[in-house]
Amino acid sequence: MAERKPLISGNWKMHHTHLEAIRVVQKLSYALKDTDYEAADVSVHPAFTALRAIQTLIDADRLSIILGAQHCHWEPKGAFTGEVSPTMLAALQVTYVIAGHSERRELFGETDEVVNLKVKAILANGMTPIMCVGETLDEREAGDTDAKVSGQVKAGLEGLTAEQVGGMVVAYEPIWAIGTGRNATPDDAQATIASIRGAVANVAGADAAATVRIQYGGSVKPANAAEILAQPDIDGALVGGASLDPDEFAPIVQAAPRRG
Ligand code: PGA
Repeated sequence: MAERKPLISGNWKMHHTHLEAIRVVQKLSYALKDTDYEAADVSVHPAFTALRAIQTLIDADRLSIILGAQHCHWEPKGAFTGEVSPTMLAALQVTYVIAGHSERRELFGETDEVVNLKVKAILANGMTPIMCVGETLDEREAGDTDAKVSGQVKAGLEGLTAEQVGGMVVAYEPIWAIGTGRNATPDDAQATIASIRGAVANVAGADAAATVRIQYGGSVKPANAAEILAQPDIDGALVGGASLDPDEFAPIVQAAPRRG
């Protein structure tokens, strides 16, 4: 099997001023040891207003924490009041950009077509997309989970090369599990993520599917992280609420299986 290093990402959503963000990253960096970074890549995704502060901190203190963003527009520049371009993020040494988070899809009208444009723009600027997919509770209860996530995978990856897809990150985030305290059972998450990997293989081939990293997201906490991260197809976690507090986020990172 291909070696896929887990990626544990903290999606801070609309939380933490730049001053709070600095304190959180400092505390997180004290808690994490070299062996933790050997076991997993760790990214934080602050609000736009904190990106520059965190970039400077990572740079000055040579931290192993990786900078991520939560969103961007797909055009490099233009008359798009309020938007931030992928070019601007790349200039801040952002590595990972989330695309198609369910909150963006549901609250800000991000369609599969928009997600595809964003994924392409993120890649074109030398960054790595974390493309989110997931079903609603109604879709799950109707037995439509696999169809929903496969459709999102197909549409989101449209027009990409196998090489591009192979270097990407996909996050499986069942919408009913986000911020609700209800998480998919590790077995269910594993099964759906295996099916997402199958959908990636259909679009981009088996080699790309073997290297794409697929995270689970939705109420990941210190108490459930180890069991989720131990599943063979689950290559990390996209963590919302529990990533805001370094005392909760550090143990989640440390729950990633030790290699070797
Ligand atoms: P949660 O959020 O961990 O608070 O459920 C996950 C996410 O939205 O990425």
